[in-house]
Amino acid sequence: MDPAVAQAFDRVPMLPDHIRRLFTIINDPDGALREVADLVCRDPSLTTQSLRVCNSAFFSLPVEITSIHQAVVLLGMEMVQGIALASYFQSSVLQRHGLTGGWMDGAADHSMATAYLCRWFLQAMGEHLLAATAFTAGLIHDIGKLAFCHLGAEVEAEVLALVAAGHEWCAAEREIIGMTHAEAGGHVCERWQIPEMLTQAVRHHHTPLESIDEPMACVVHIAERLAHTGLTGVDEAGPLVGIEPAAWQSLGLDDAEMLSLATDLLKTLEATPMPAA
Ligand SMILES: [Fe+2]
Ligand SMILES: [Fe+2]
Repeated sequence: MDPAVAQAFDRVPMLPDHIRRLFTIINDPDGALREVADLVCRDPSLTTQSLRVCNSAFFSLPVEITSIHQAVVLLGMEMVQGIALASYFQSSVLQRHGLTGGWMDGAADHSMATAYLCRWFLQAMGEHLLAATAFTAGLIHDIGKLAFCHLGAEVEAEVLALVAAGHEWCAAEREIIGMTHAEAGGHVCERWQIPEMLTQAVRHHHTPLESIDEPMACVVHIAERLAHTGLTGVDEAGPLVGIEPAAWQSLGLDDAEMLSLATDLLKTLEATPMPAA
């Protein structure tokens, strides 16, 4: 690994103990709802941010949630875990470290749209149990850009110049930095001791067929491409442009089923306001 890139990873802050503990509890069958809520409540900005997401139009809850304890009961531990992790990523780390530059432009909306699409996609396929994990995977899939923020604006400008010259985004990153933001995300997840299924999905969201845990990486790959389409408008070539056909085929969908599902998902996304950052 290039020494500058290795240094950038060293500068990615470690996950605070209370966020790491969330993963331990959730993987522990005796994990208590109350403990999850108590851990989130230890961090006031995390609580505020998480409640904002819980009360967003996406969840369409019948009542306004005013406490994390209520959120855990209504949404489940795993959803709150994902929201807490993403809230930590988007607000605490980025703002505290002044990393609001180009790498992260539009990141909050894109991550949220991807998370929604991951969840809806699995729900539409009847995979309700994995839908919450997929939501988290969608929220954190571009977390590698956090490490790239530490490389400085010049490196970003070099990547952007290659993209402007017609290179594909990941190829430009590999050329200039020696790795893609997806691979960098895999390193950040390992540093943060994020569960393997999520780590794989982050690392392979642009190369889903290389993932050991292929289904989740395929889901995130499809959802994040659709999120781009949703946020920028459907390309003339249709909503599936840029998605590996093998990704939906490996999930058991044929081309017509995928096209119809993608169209439905994008309509739902269009009708769902994003929570304010
Ligand atoms: Fe990405
Ligand atoms: Fe993305």
